[in-house]
Amino acid sequence: MATASAVSALGAKPVFADINPTTYNIDAAQLARRVTPRTRAIVVVHLYGLAADMDPIMEFAHSRNLPVVEDSAQAIGAGYKGRRTGSLGDVACFSFYPTKNLGACGDAGMIVTNSAKHAERLRILRNHGQTEKYVSSEPGWNGRLDEMQAAILRVKLRHLAAWQRARQAHAAEYTRHFAQIPGIMPPLVPEGYEHVFHQYTVRAEERDKLQRVLSEKKIGSAVYYPVPLHLQPLYASLGHKEGDFPHAEHAAQEVLSLPMYPELRPAQLARVAEAVTEFVRH
Ligand SMILES: Cc1ncc(COP(=O)(O)O)c(C=O)c1O
Repeated sequence: MATASAVSALGAKPVFADINPTTYNIDAAQLARRVTPRTRAIVVVHLYGLAADMDPIMEFAHSRNLPVVEDSAQAIGAGYKGRRTGSLGDVACFSFYPTKNLGACGDAGMIVTNSAKHAERLRILRNHGQTEKYVSSEPGWNGRLDEMQAAILRVKLRHLAAWQRARQAHAAEYTRHFAQIPGIMPPLVPEGYEHVFHQYTVRAEERDKLQRVLSEKKIGSAVYYPVPLHLQPLYASLGHKEGDFPHAEHAAQEVLSLPMYPELRPAQLARVAEAVTEFVRH
């Protein structure tokens, strides 16, 4: 929702495209079908910590002369064919919201770009549109990174690679447990990608029942996200109906994110994996 509502907040109209059902990221072919002469930019979310398939997206965007914004809020450090998310599009956004892989002690975020022109404009916008002190030529906002948050993030940044390795080891262990279990589909990591597992999200046909059973065992889990964007009340005026983006709708009914954080202990992980396995076997 944060991605789409940023578009709406500009007074622009978000136009959605369906996902690839195995990666949960935007499908390049679907995207191409949704672009019109009125399209001004393409926004790609790298969901759960896995990069979207950027090569065909960038190729298509260049052919149409459209800029690409990467929403890398969930995917700091994620790899795609030897590069990292945030370096693949024209501009990229990161979130340091406390639950993110690199979390501040409150709200914080970052935009990166290789374009000097975009960087200059963004520096103006983040500070009330000021081109010099107390002189503004366009409306902006307060998008400054608080110094205390920056100080905390600089210290935590040193640990990010180790935390990432821990998440990846936990994910490999979960997947080892689930690989032979029918009815549970572990997250896919395509060849050439490095997943950073902001979430470890499985698909389960009886997702709601599984979540209830886990909850009874005091095991936390979460659904990211239960309502697809095109069916949100905010976007009722776009006139979408159920069935417009079947892969996104199907995923919304089946995805479940299991406990995932660097400090997860082997016994805790085993307890979660056993609870899921037991549910499927009964
Ligand atoms: C994919 C995605 N985009 C954008 C955001 C927004 O980031 P923030 O809350 O730092 O504004 C989030 C998380 O909140 C997110 O998960």
